[in-house]
Amino acid sequence: MQQASIATLYQQQFNTRPALLVQAPGRINLIGEHTDYNAGFVLPGAIQQSIWLAIGLREDNQLHCYAADWKEFIQLDAEALSFQKETSWANYLLGVLQEFRLLGLPTTGLNIAFGGNIPTGAGLSSSAALVSAMAVALNTLFQQGKSRLELAQLAQRAENNFVGTQCGIMDMFASLFGKAGQVLQLDCRDLSVRYFSVPQGPYSWVLLDSGVQHRLVESEYNTRRAECEAGVAYLQGDGLQITSLREVAREALIDRSSLLPETVFRRCLFVVEEIERVQLACQLLEEGQLTEFGRLLTECHRGLDSLYEVCVPETNFLVEQAICQAGVLGARQMGGGFGGCVLCLVQTDTLPELIHSLSTAYLSTFGIPMVHYPVQLSEGVRVLND
Ligand code: GLA
Repeated sequence: MQQASIATLYQQQFNTRPALLVQAPGRINLIGEHTDYNAGFVLPGAIQQSIWLAIGLREDNQLHCYAADWKEFIQLDAEALSFQKETSWANYLLGVLQEFRLLGLPTTGLNIAFGGNIPTGAGLSSSAALVSAMAVALNTLFQQGKSRLELAQLAQRAENNFVGTQCGIMDMFASLFGKAGQVLQLDCRDLSVRYFSVPQGPYSWVLLDSGVQHRLVESEYNTRRAECEAGVAYLQGDGLQITSLREVAREALIDRSSLLPETVFRRCLFVVEEIERVQLACQLLEEGQLTEFGRLLTECHRGLDSLYEVCVPETNFLVEQAICQAGVLGARQMGGGFGGCVLCLVQTDTLPELIHSLSTAYLSTFGIPMVHYPVQLSEGVRVLND
């Protein structure tokens, strides 16, 4: 599904033209995993793959929503926003609508159609793109005048409160604040942003899709969050004046390792080291030291696997195979974990060979075809016709 078709599909579905068309991109994250909900740093960027959402008013008090990629349609009374069990995509739309209503948006009927080309379950945040698209659409259509920062916070609340995912703010931030050719260092404590250009040409970023997304992802994600919070509570109990792992130095944590349950200690150690890695990575990016940057990626993966325990055999295989290939500077599993894509930094001239040998090895080991996506850093959410 591309931009041109969503307006047409909207017209076919609702017999009228949309009032507004919005494009919202998915995201990658160069480094800084599981640090957003620990008030740390992340380094994401918006990508070319996007969701297109068309919206318009209805004269009655109904909500009619159409998911073009699944050819699914729901219809409900706009007065009572109810959780949709069978069509989970609808909850992202309704969640955003509910957050706007809580801020005083009047109840009206709406037609909505959306579709896109962000692969689902690949760790590229198609859900954050959907909530971000809906937030910008409602903000524009009803002239709510909210800033992008307010919209990112609102979109996160929609996922937390209505959908029930306890995600951090990174994904919607990347979708809303992305810039072409750049990544953004987001400080998740004060939500300040610094942009960094990502060198192109001799080096390429590529996503290797493992094609697996384990069901565990949601429950384990929430468990990891709780373990980090437990770590903070243990450290506070020892007199540390902290409110998050952001404020903990690696040495201070290691000195107190015996005070924390072993698992909690390992989770905290990963987060504290990962927050340091993002800061170093930004410096390396500025200095153009990509070989060192690549090493950080692989170090991050090792931590995700052994300390945070969110990796799976498939992504471990892709990373270990990739880093043995000529021209590969580093690789790591990306996103919440338990599958999805591996992000790989590679010399452009060796990329075809890398893809060829990895897809052959991956297919013969796991029986799964390895799809890959070149990374193209793109603009954040755009209103296409106002
Ligand atoms: C998911 C969440 C993000 C972030 C990452 C892990 O993508 O939605 O908020 O926590 O996992 O870095």
